[in-house]
Amino acid sequence: MRFVHISDLHYTVNIKDFSSSRSNLIAALRLIIDDIKSIEKHLDFVAITGDLTEIGDVESYKQLKILLNVLDIPIFVVPGNHDEPMAFGEIFNQNGAEQGRGFTDYCINLNGVQLLGMNTQIIGQAQGKLSDTQLLLIEEKLSDHKFSRNIIFMHHPAFLTGFSGYDETLLLSGREVLGNIIEKSTSQVIILSGHIHKPFQAVWRGANCYIAGGPCFQLGNAVPFGNGQQEILDEPYAYFVHSIDDNDSHVVSTRYVNLDN
Ligand SMILES: [Fe+2]
Repeated sequence: MRFVHISDLHYTVNIKDFSSSRSNLIAALRLIIDDIKSIEKHLDFVAITGDLTEIGDVESYKQLKILLNVLDIPIFVVPGNHDEPMAFGEIFNQNGAEQGRGFTDYCINLNGVQLLGMNTQIIGQAQGKLSDTQLLLIEEKLSDHKFSRNIIFMHHPAFLTGFSGYDETLLLSGREVLGNIIEKSTSQVIILSGHIHKPFQAVWRGANCYIAGGPCFQLGNAVPFGNGQQEILDEPYAYFVHSIDDNDSHVVSTRYVNLDN
């Protein structure tokens, strides 16, 4: 199974409302989607882990959906702190959510790999959480021995990055319990996240964890750890391509997209 992971598109039909974004955001998203299109025959799906839009307006979801419609492979999405769950669920109602109910968490068996989509949003806050109900669901699904691999999509990363400015905005609750569940599980767990607009990889409590960068801007410190001032970095955009096989290997390669041309 192969898939790509992107995040934090922050699409907006009115770019003037989004002062910190690159001004050619929609053109940049087109380049990324075109790049994925060029390799899609090798892929099983695309994961987009939240903040699909900047302000959660219906028109931006509609326009983004049109942009993504050039892809002919499944796209699995979860909302981020910038998304509006009702509008999100209306336009990206692909995961079994009923019309009018907004986004609901989901669990999908894709060719023997279990995919779990979790909404970690706390309305009105940058931080996220996993509720007791979500943690029970994850525990139940991860103990299903039919699946030797589980992939969890959630906007807020589970692991601490070491950048204090980022780590203050991660999961307010549920992190410790999630780690305990993963450690108990006999399956390989992969967690795909976004939120901090900088690519990261980590092994956390036995799970392989990935954070995708942000096409609108990427944040960072001058040095890769510590408490330094975060700033918008002029660094290349890249996304991860994952390949997992029956021999238990999980290979991740990086694809760079030049967004400035
Ligand atoms: Fe974001």
